Amino acid sequence: MSRIPLIAGNWKMNKTPDEAVKSAQALVALTAEAEGVEAMIAPPFTALTAVAAALADSPIHLGAQNLYWEAAGAYTGEIAPTMLTAAGCSHVIIGHSERRQYFNETDATVNKRVQAAVENGLVPVVCIGETLEERQSDSTQLVLGDQLKSGLADLSAQKLAGLIVAYEPIWAIGTGQAATPDTAQATHQFIRGFLQKSFGGKLANLVKILYGGSVNVDNIKALMAKPDIDGALVGGASLAAETFSRLVCFNLDGN
Ligand code: PGA
Repeated sequence: MSRIPLIAGNWKMNKTPDEAVKSAQALVALTAEAEGVEAMIAPPFTALTAVAAALADSPIHLGAQNLYWEAAGAYTGEIAPTMLTAAGCSHVIIGHSERRQYFNETDATVNKRVQAAVENGLVPVVCIGETLEERQSDSTQLVLGDQLKSGLADLSAQKLAGLIVAYEPIWAIGTGQAATPDTAQATHQFIRGFLQKSFGGKLANLVKILYGGSVNVDNIKALMAKPDIDGALVGGASLAAETFSRLVCFNLDGN
């Protein structure tokens, strides 16, 4: 198994372009020693171009927090896939629970976005996760299975070769209550099994499954020690470069 871990920072609606560039520059310097790990940051749209320049000589990937599926036209306020690639993005977060909760995104629109991302050479980071109520009523697998089935409908294993899934239990996002490593591992194992059944073992083995929800410097090592946890999608703890660099360097001594 040779999945290189990915530590991804989702900056959400934070940082002006100047602030974002300063953070990105600090992160580049602080992660210069990182090895055997990939990093990604997803600033707001308005900071993408400036951050791309700050990351130009570094291996840190640039991601967007969303995209629209049409190529161009009368869609006021939306951002097309080619605008992201032209701004320097290689990755795009799709279907974050905040998008689903506050902006009416559904599995059907997630699917359109995933299709548009892969058609344009962007790596989709597809977010799925259950509510507390769903977990307590034992429906987690049902909910995640539905999200994956509909979100990835009509896509082939070939098209999904670069797919990244982020498992983000809604009850863990921004709450300080991360899933335990055992709970996250069991859920990731279910997700990989689901991908195997739907798309075959080759793809299931390739797909990075990130855990997201209150990841911090105290819990990252235990999470990353689990065989099906291939990285983290980090919100709050990605905003300060010093903290996020420690997450990226989780596998180096002294961290
Ligand atoms: P958090 O957010 O790390 O602040 O919990 C994670 C996310 O929403 O991706």
